[in-house]
This record gives sequence, structure tokens and C-alpha cells, in this order.
Amino acid sequence: MEFELSETQQLIRQTARDFAIKELLPGAAEREREGVFPKELLAKMAGLGLMGINVPESRGGVEAGVVAYALAMMEIARCCGSTAVTMSVTNMVAEILCKFGREDQIDQHVPRICSGEYTAGAFALSEPGCGSDAAALKTSARRKNGGWVLNGTKQFITSGAYSGVTVVWARTGGSGSRGISAFLATPDTAGLSVGAEERKMGLRASNTVSLVFEDAELPEDALLGEEGRGFPIAMEALDGGRIGVSSQAIGIAQAALEAAVEYAKERKTFGKRLADHQAIQWMLADSATELEAARLLTLQAAHLKETGRPFTRQASMAKVFSTEAANRICARAFQIHGGYGYVEDYPVERYLRDSRVTTIYEGTSEIQRLVIARQLLQD
Ligand code: CAA
Repeated sequence: MEFELSETQQLIRQTARDFAIKELLPGAAEREREGVFPKELLAKMAGLGLMGINVPESRGGVEAGVVAYALAMMEIARCCGSTAVTMSVTNMVAEILCKFGREDQIDQHVPRICSGEYTAGAFALSEPGCGSDAAALKTSARRKNGGWVLNGTKQFITSGAYSGVTVVWARTGGSGSRGISAFLATPDTAGLSVGAEERKMGLRASNTVSLVFEDAELPEDALLGEEGRGFPIAMEALDGGRIGVSSQAIGIAQAALEAAVEYAKERKTFGKRLADHQAIQWMLADSATELEAARLLTLQAAHLKETGRPFTRQASMAKVFSTEAANRICARAFQIHGGYGYVEDYPVERYLRDSRVTTIYEGTSEIQRLVIARQLLQD
């Protein structure tokens, strides 16, 4: 069993760490408070290879693997959770294209995602009426004049207003998952419009919008994969995406723990440092232990994916554990800060808000448990 990182993994992690500390951290609180999307910073990240970490070099990526991707995501999220989710979905879209796209689709989009020519990629599965039950989606795609016409609304789409290419799932057949196909839509698609930006509890420097398809016209070759086989593409993409969200939660929780340790060493109550009270020590110890366990679960899932082995269950285990632990860790950091936790002068209120959605998007904790239990109980 090997716990050491390779040189490449260390290099990617260091690159992400240096960039995050120097470029992301200084304005992170303000961007999040004001809801400013970090367009220029994302372009710089692409320049460092961070938008195609697990994408082959021949496609414009850095081909550093899934473990390196998870490590980089942790570093980015430690400094800016909003940028991390944008990076996560963009990498996921590049990977889906490489896995399921035809040569022409890959050639058209993947180098542009990796180079930063596209600000981001987007993943449009959820709808106003369905999130967890993804196979119930209603957006329709019908054939017309050698192309496709899409109608429906996609909800909570990360980077939807900035995406150079959006993978969109729509119903081409009957009910259920086998009636669903995946398509690629570009921003110039006639009939596609971007809805109002959501006013979120956290991660406000990320962009979350609805996408409305009203007789939206896509060419014949916009179909990704086979007709009626779009659902497994979404599921496989989300398996990998869950490693990304798990890593994001770990990065945010790491920042919260560090803030709590620093504050506990500074602040005095009852004649001694907070850090010298056993109640605080135990909170810090629990947080550090949970964080370590989350990291190991996540890197294990990443390693399985990287080595081509099944990883669906481990990705769900990593996500449910890391994201729920991150919520506990951020809440403890917040509690340790007392009244100062509640004001914007300290970063822990942002960490708490940013971590909250990680147990929701890319599959709720309940969906992760369902995935794990199904595998346990299958014959
Ligand atoms: N990999 C590949 N294929 C898979 C798969 C996987 N992990 N899981 C299921 N499939 C395939 C099945 O094999 C089956 O294929 P066949 O047609 O060949 O039989 C098909 O998909 C249907 O599978 P199920 O019957 O298991 O599907 P289900 O309807 O019971 O749903 C679910 C399963 C796990 C609940 C799924 O609906 C799910 O993951 N829901 C959560 C959706 C989600 O995570 N949404 C996140 C939105 S995106 C987002 O948040 C991004 C963002 O912007 C941040």
C-alpha cells in the first residue's frame, strides 16, 4: 500500500496551492460578498492546467490523473470555495467529452476548455421539478429537419451564464432513464436563454442560473453518445464529480480548521487561551481526525478511478462523509469563534455557508447513501 504522492501529484498540488494563496485568497471574501464571478482568475487557472487535470495531453489537458485533480481541488477550495465549484464542473465536462464524445466533438471543445478559451463548462441535468430523481427529467428533444429541437428548463446550473459548452440532458424517447439522451449546446444556440442568477446562501462568486430551451435548435451532431443512452453518461460523470465535491468540501473544512486553531491560540477566556480549554481541544481534535478520514476516503476513490477500477460506491462514500464532516468542522470553527464567528470580519461564517451546499449538489447525502446501500444489497 502506497501513501506517498508521486512527483507529478506533488507538483500539481503545489502549483494549485501557490496560485490559490497568491491569487485567489486575497479577494475571496470580497468576491463572495459582492457576488463577483472570477473570470480572469479562471483563465489564469486554465493557463496552469487546472481546467483539464485528468484530461489527456493530446486533448490539451495535463494528464496528471484523478488523485492530482483531487489534491488541486482541495487547495483551490481552501482559498476560494466558489472558484473550486466552477473548476470542478469544468473539469467534469472536459472529462465527459473525452470519454463519450466523438473525435470532432472532442476537438471542438476540449482544447478550448483546457486552455481557458471557454471560461467554463456546464452540466445541465437538474430541472425545476427534478433533482435527485434525475431520470424523471422532462426537457424534450425531438428530431426536426435533420437536427434537434429542445424544450424545457434546466435549474441550478453552475456556470450556466459563462459556459462555452453545456452538456444538456433531454428526453428523446419514452419515460424512464432509457428515454434520455445527452447533447452539447453552445451559448449561440438559437432558442437557448440564460435565466436570472440565483441569490445563494454561499458560494456567491460562482454562477448559478437556469437555462431555458424554447424551441432551441441543435444540429444533428450535437448528440453526445448514443440516442437513449444519455443517463448512464450523467451517472458516470457524477461518480467522478462526487470526488471533486468531496475534495472541495475538504478544502473548505481545512480552511475552517486552520482558522479555528489560529483563533483558539489567540483568544483568552477565564485567564487562559481557548486552546488550553479541553472542550476546545476536543473540538479541534475531532475536526482534524474527521478531515484526515475524509481525505483518505477521497484519495482512495480518486486512486480507484485513476487505475480504471470501479469506484461508484467509494465516490459516494467519500462524498457523504467528507461533505457532512465539512459541515461539522465548519460549525465547530464557527462555535469556537463565538460572536466573532457570526460577523464578516472573520472568514468562518463564509466557510459555514460555502460548505452547506456540498451535501446537496451532485447528489444529496441521501442519494449517496442510496447508491452505497444499493451496492451492498444487490444480489
Ligand atoms: N455509472 C454508469 N451507469 C449507471 C450508474 C453509474 N454510476 N448508475 C446507474 N447507471 C445506469 C444503470 O446501469 C442503468 O442503465 P441501463 O439503462 O443500462 O439499465 C441506468 O443508469 C439507470 O440506473 P438506475 O435504475 O439505477 O437509475 P435511478 O433512476 O434509480 O437513479 C440515482 C439512480 C442514483 C438515484 C440517480 O438518479 C442519481 O444519482 N440521482 C442524483 C442526481 C444528481 O446527483 N444530480 C446532481 C445534479 S448536477 C449538479 O449538481 C452539478 C452542479 O452544477 C454542481
